[in-house]
Formats: sequence, C-alpha cells, structure tokens
Amino acid sequence: MGYSRLIGHLILLTVVMSSCIQPEVQPVTRAIIPAPTAANWSEDSKAQIHWNGDWHWTIDTEWDKRQIVWKAWLPGKSNPKGLSIRMERAVGYAVEGYSLRIDDDGVSIEASEEAGAFHALTTLRWMLPPDSDNEGTWALPHVSISDAPRFEHRGLLLDCCRHFMDPDFVMRTIDLLALHKMNVLHWHLTEDQGWRIEVGAYPELTSTGAWRAEDDGSRHGGFYTKAQIREIVAYAADRNITVIPEVELPGHSRAAIAAYPWLSCTGDSLEVPHDWGVFKDIYCAGEDTTFRFLETVLLEVMDLFPSEYIHIGGDEAPKVRWESCPKCQRRIQEEGLHDAHELQSWFITQIGSFLADHGRKLIGWDEILEGGLPDGATVQSWRGMQGGRDAVAMGRDAIMSPTSHCYFDYPVESIDLERVYGFEPEPEGLEGSGRILGGECNMWSERAPQELVDSKVFPRIVAMSEVLWSSKSQRDWNGFQERMELHYSRLDAWNVDYGWEAVPIDLSCEAAAQTGRITVELDRAISGIEGDVSWETEGIQSRISQAFDAPFEVTGEGALVVELRRNDAAVGKPWRFPLAGHVGVFQPVELDHALNAYYPGGGQQGLADGRLGSMDFRDGCWQATHGEDMGVRLSLNEELQVDSLSMQFYLYQDAWIFVPDSVRFQWSLDGENWKGDWSIQTEWNGADSFVQNEIQGVIRLAVPVNSRAKYIRFEALNPGPCPLWHDAASSDSWLFLDELVVHAN
Ligand code: ACM
Ligand code: ZN
Repeated sequence: MGYSRLIGHLILLTVVMSSCIQPEVQPVTRAIIPAPTAANWSEDSKAQIHWNGDWHWTIDTEWDKRQIVWKAWLPGKSNPKGLSIRMERAVGYAVEGYSLRIDDDGVSIEASEEAGAFHALTTLRWMLPPDSDNEGTWALPHVSISDAPRFEHRGLLLDCCRHFMDPDFVMRTIDLLALHKMNVLHWHLTEDQGWRIEVGAYPELTSTGAWRAEDDGSRHGGFYTKAQIREIVAYAADRNITVIPEVELPGHSRAAIAAYPWLSCTGDSLEVPHDWGVFKDIYCAGEDTTFRFLETVLLEVMDLFPSEYIHIGGDEAPKVRWESCPKCQRRIQEEGLHDAHELQSWFITQIGSFLADHGRKLIGWDEILEGGLPDGATVQSWRGMQGGRDAVAMGRDAIMSPTSHCYFDYPVESIDLERVYGFEPEPEGLEGSGRILGGECNMWSERAPQELVDSKVFPRIVAMSEVLWSSKSQRDWNGFQERMELHYSRLDAWNVDYGWEAVPIDLSCEAAAQTGRITVELDRAISGIEGDVSWETEGIQSRISQAFDAPFEVTGEGALVVELRRNDAAVGKPWRFPLAGHVGVFQPVELDHALNAYYPGGGQQGLADGRLGSMDFRDGCWQATHGEDMGVRLSLNEELQVDSLSMQFYLYQDAWIFVPDSVRFQWSLDGENWKGDWSIQTEWNGADSFVQNEIQGVIRLAVPVNSRAKYIRFEALNPGPCPLWHDAASSDSWLFLDELVVHAN
C-alpha cells in the first residue's frame, strides 16, 4: 500500500543551515531513530563540515573483513581526497556501544566491538540524505554522540513458513533491520504449512514438506538450500544481525509428519495443511526415533546457524494424541511423569540437553513453562507478559513479545504505531533485573504473503526499534512522530511499501434520539489525507459529499466506504466501517461479562454503539470472552414498539471461536417481567455438519418481537471447551459478539 509523503513539517526538520554557506550546500537531519543515548549538537552554525559524496576511510585492521560491506553502507564512494572517516577500536565501550564525533577533522568513530562501529556508521547514515545517488554538498554539523542499546535482544520474527519468502526479500529485510539497529532475525523455518530448511539426512522434509496444495488447486511452497541459508546468515552477520532459527517442536509439525508419518503418534498419512490454526497431530513423545530424527535435524541446523540460541517453538501443542498413544503413555510411566504437560516439559528438556551438549541455548514460547521449565531455557513471552515474569521469578531470562503490542500480523486497528511506541518490555518489578533480554515483533504470515509483509512491519518496527534501543527516559511520542515524519522519505527511497501508522479516520457515532438513525462524524486521524465517502446499503452506494466537514446521518444497516488519497494518490484498499442505525444505539448498557483485555470491542458501550463487527475479528468492534458466557441489557429511553432484535456472532473454529450453545433474547416493560425464552437452542457448535467446514465469518441471528418494550436483554452461553474433534480439544473456546440491534417503529 505504498504511498509517498511530502516532508510536510519543515518546521520540525531539525536542520543546521547557515546564512554564510553556499546555496547548494544542503542541511542534513538530526532526526535519528532510534534516538541515541546522548547527542551533543553544536549550535554554532559555522561549526560544520561539507561533504560532497566522497569518503576517505581509515578502518581499524581488526575490522578489515567488514570493510567492503561497511563502505557500501553509506552513500558516496571511497576517494583518498574525500572526507575522513576514522574507525578505531578502543576499550571501555558496551558490546554495541560507540562514540561518533564530527568536527573539522572529519568523522571519528570509536567502539570496542565491530557491532558498535557498525551502529555508528548507521547513525551517520541517518543524518545523510536517503537517496544514495544524490548529488550535492551536504553540511554536517559538529556533533558528539555516545550511544549504546538498552536491550541486547532486538528482534523481528519472520514467518517464512505460512508464506514462503524469497531469499532476496529476506536479505532486504535484514538491511532494513540493520538500518533500525535491530540485531536479531528470528527466522521461523518449520511449521504445519511448510518445512523450509534443506536437511541432508531427511530429503522428504523439503521434497514433500515444503509444498502444499491450496484451496484453488495451486501449489504453494519453497525452501532454502543450505547454500542460501549460509549466504543469508553471513549477510546478516556483516550487518550485526544474528539469525536465530526456529525449529518447532513438538507441535506445529504437520509438514514434517506429512514427509515422515512415523513421526506422529498414529503414523497416519497426512497432507501438508493449507489452512491455519493449531493441529493435534504432533511429534510422538514415546518413540525414540522421534528424538533421533530431531537430533539429526538440529545437528544440521546448528551447522548452518552459529547463533548461541536455537528456538524450538514449544507453543500450541495439543495433548490429545499423547493422551491416547500407548507409547506416549508408557513414556509418562517410565519417566515418572504425572501427565501430558509434564511429558511436554520432558520432551523440551531432552532437546535442551542435546543443544546444551553442543554449546547452544534453547529459547521456547511461554508454553514451555507448563509442566516445569527445563534448565537453562529462555522464555519468549507471547501470551501477555506473565510468561516472562514467571521465567524471571525462576531465575531465567525472557524475551518479550506479547500479542498486545508485538504482533505485527494484527491489523492497525488493534496495534497502531502509538501502541507499539508505548510498549514497555520490562514490567513493573522487573526493572533492572537484567533478565529481560529484550523484545521481538512477530510477523506471522498466515494472512501476509511476501507482498504484504512491508505494510505490516512498517512503520511499526520503527517504533519498536526505539523502544528496544533507547533508554526509557528518552521515550517521547511527539518527538518520535516528528522524526518518523521525516523517515518516510527514507522508507520511500528504500522502496518500503509501508502501511498506515494508525486507522486514518476517527469515526464516532451518536444516536439521533431513538429515531433509528445515527449521526456519524468523520475526522482525519492522519494529516494530509482526502477521501470519497459513500454509504453502501443493499449493494447500492450513495456518495456523501463533504463527509469530513460536517456530521451526517445514516439510517438502517450498511457500511461507510471510504476511499482515501494521500497527496492525490489512492492509498490501498477502501476502508469499510459496517454500521447499524437502530434505537438501541448509545442507550444505557449493563454487561454480565467482564471486558476481555484483548477484545474489549468498544468497551462498555460496544454492544450498542452503532458500529458492527466486520469480517476481521480483530477490528476492535467485536467483544469476546474466553470460556465464559456473555450477557447484555439495554434500557431504552422510553417504551417503544419493538419489531425485532438481532445479534451477530463470529465463527472461526481454526481460531477457537465458536458460536454459542444457546442464546436468549428477552424484552420487558418494567425490567422485571420478561418475555422471550431460550428459544434458540443452537446445534451449531460441535454439530457434525460443522466439523469439516473451515468456516470463517459472521453469523446473524434475529428474532421477531412485535411487542412494546423498554428493556432488552440478550444472553449467550459459551459452548464450553473446544470439542473432541477439534485440534485444540478441551481448551476453552472463544465467544465473539456484536451488536445488539433493536429495530422499532
Ligand atoms: C505464537 O504466536 N503461537 C507463538
Ligand atoms: Zn505418541
């Protein structure tokens, strides 16, 4: 969804321009992200040196082998007459720390390690024009910068399994990570939907496991050869990025099982799946052959990846197969374990010891805490921050990537730039523990083939880079936004197809006094956008002129369709906001359920705010509970003749979202005597007809009322744990609702 931005806020451009310099000398920018720890810029406008595109390099001999890469990292070319850059080793700097000084002698950089020297060059690069082909002379102000990161682990998870990504794309991502001083590429390489690493001992992993048949009959897949992996790992190392491979176990292993069915408990022949979710066929923990297989794979993986850490997944491994597998049950008995959770812990411990024997450390998702955390394991906390807290309480290290702030596959409606910028990886009480190694943003690719990845990762990762690098006291949202505004032109120069930093439109609804109409107000949440707005109902679109200038009314149900332009260019797909004008909008609401932290769906008023949940269950409109019933009561202003009531449910079994077991609509004149029954006993959940369906979408349920009423009530019973046929059998299911629509005369 690429769009270009003018540098609109020139006033914010912190530039040094001197009245006495030649007109062709251009200013550079001080808008560096992540903000350096300390930067002392000369305020004397004469204290500057001119750079015309040539550098004269003096690089410490210890860092010789990086010369070619580093010289290519800055715009301009090597020339003995160019501006001097001296890079020297010195004692006393943090591992990635450095100092950078610009004065009349040129640029001098000091660091103790290569990483620091490279970051210094990157800082210099941020000051220079984004376009490396630029011609001209640039004025570099005298400055003294000293800098070091707050966290040692600053990562991006790239899921190249759900959708395969080209090696060139991975390398370009590495460049972009380096530009933002990120230092870890967490490369997700094995999954249910595809195995992506060439393994010499097990060729079927890629000949079978790397390919899947899509719904439309096409084939999707690909894998990285050993040569490609070595090239990528070396490319990353030159840019101070460690590639940590993730080899998922014991779950998310259907592609491996498709290649070698003897790896599973049943031995059944299964395909590489093409749908998303959690699958119950996982590696058998009872067979020794499973461990010999994994050890052989890991030996080849360790040979390719020199990283200290190896990520072994450990998340979302349903235990149903283990519960009924005689070999797994025998293992539980022989090892004196209590249950399948302890078997998972035992499984991870085997792998952890194997890695430790080879001098490596294990990282696993926070599920590895269940049944006992294996010795020496580092926890990556994704289901909130608690996993990280628990790990630290046990004296272990943690990496924070909670879904609330770090899941870049989620839409901008649920995680926008400001939210990412507000992420604090060290929760209260753990500050200074030294156990929070850092954080990661997770780019899962179920809904993001390669061409969409930029639009999800950018600009959010820019905010994350500052969260993970700069000190807490430097966190400054307004200042960051100003620097970000300038950074867009650099992202344009790098052809980054970035997405929106926030939902570009603020939409608020008001009830038009129980008339069944709603008043809508649209505001621009991002400056410089224009749009055409239409009201679409029953397939017909009618244009609303000057929709951004004044509130307007809509009636009935439909969707506002907003096509946006930025600098006169269309930007991405139109935004759709489903709305329902009805008499319950903004009438007082009481809820029987607690608001879920992840799916509060518009808060207390969310089930009667005129906004309808869309086809995206993370759109911020759906209200959800996990394992609990839901109920809502509305008090209308006055007694009305109510024609009908309706409610929408979301159904997406792969995401453990089911429709309720039963629901009840009720109405009353006095709030005490109610009509309406548990008249709708749904057979939906668990019914065989649903078993084979991969349904995802919205289901509407309506009941006729034809009665006078002042109070309205709706209740929905949670269907209970995911049914036995489900891959997540026995885990709590989700219930998603929006909105209680009251149709009246
Ligand atoms: C995860 O998102 N399943 C780690
Ligand atoms: Zn088994």
